[in-house]
Amino acid sequence: MNDQANRLRALARTQVPEATLFTSRVMAIASGKGGVGKTNVVAGLAMALAQLGQRVVVLDADFGLANLDILLGLSPEYTLEHVLRGEKLMEEILLDGPFGIRIIPASSGIQELTRLDAAAEMRLIQGLQRISATSDWLLIDTAAGIHDSVIKLLMAAQEVLLVTTPEPTALVDAYAMVKVVHLRDPHKPLWLLVNNAQSQDEAEETIEQLQAATRRFLNRDLHVLGMLPSDPFILQAVRQQRGVVELFPQAPSALALHSAARQLQEKIPLQKDGFAAFWKGLSAEEP
Ligand SMILES: Nc1ncnc2c1ncn2[C@@H]1O[C@H](COP(=O)(O)OP(=O)(O)O)[C@@H](O)[C@H]1O
Ligand SMILES: [Mg+2]
Repeated sequence: MNDQANRLRALARTQVPEATLFTSRVMAIASGKGGVGKTNVVAGLAMALAQLGQRVVVLDADFGLANLDILLGLSPEYTLEHVLRGEKLMEEILLDGPFGIRIIPASSGIQELTRLDAAAEMRLIQGLQRISATSDWLLIDTAAGIHDSVIKLLMAAQEVLLVTTPEPTALVDAYAMVKVVHLRDPHKPLWLLVNNAQSQDEAEETIEQLQAATRRFLNRDLHVLGMLPSDPFILQAVRQQRGVVELFPQAPSALALHSAARQLQEKIPLQKDGFAAFWKGLSAEEP
């Protein structure tokens, strides 16, 4: 690593400007397997939290399949790529979504956040820092799988929400994800949401299977956030590029999202330095 990078990293670790002392909760949403509904969950939770009066920012950090903007019918002119290159400020690329949520759009082909050069990293962190100053939640939609770059984001976040479906393949990959996170930090708060369940029984069975494995092999429990049923209203909302919470507030999945958002709001403690901790986590060098 070059000298400049070392200097900037050292700076990021030691200097936490006063402006970082906010109460933004940082939650990364992860999945072992792709296609389990992670992006729909992120968008839905963001809207449901916003309806509870929370100020929410969503960062699309799934650079391979950056599609949060498409899901919400937004057409970004600029993306995080422009911020990282120093061509735009974070404020200039923010998109306004439903219920006042704000979205930081990505584009495919952005360098992984953990492999940025020092200047790009500082642009990212300082931009996020300013945005977080006026938000209660930062939700991060991450790429599926246990790549190092994803795990690093998860380790930096205050809370991790794992999304899985009841499918055996998704479940196995979800367990692999829990294991990797747990081995890095046994105290990282891990939440579980089962999506696309055919019934309450199926969701409960899925939760029980995963809990049994984590108890037996890792000696820990997951926090259960609940389940989202398989819901045709989600597909209809996706086709219209709107959120199910917005379009069909009485749909089963929308009601479940509201209940999940209320739980998060009640159970996740405010951390005075939530974002500062995220910042330090992202800037920390690999051991
Ligand atoms: N609860 C659900 N019921 C029905 N379809 C769903 C549900 N959740 C997600 N889907 C569908 O699954 C597909 C993948 O969802 P997406 O959120 O893009 O997954 P991921 O971000 O994990 O790749 C989408 O077509 C979406 O409409
Ligand atoms: Mg996605």
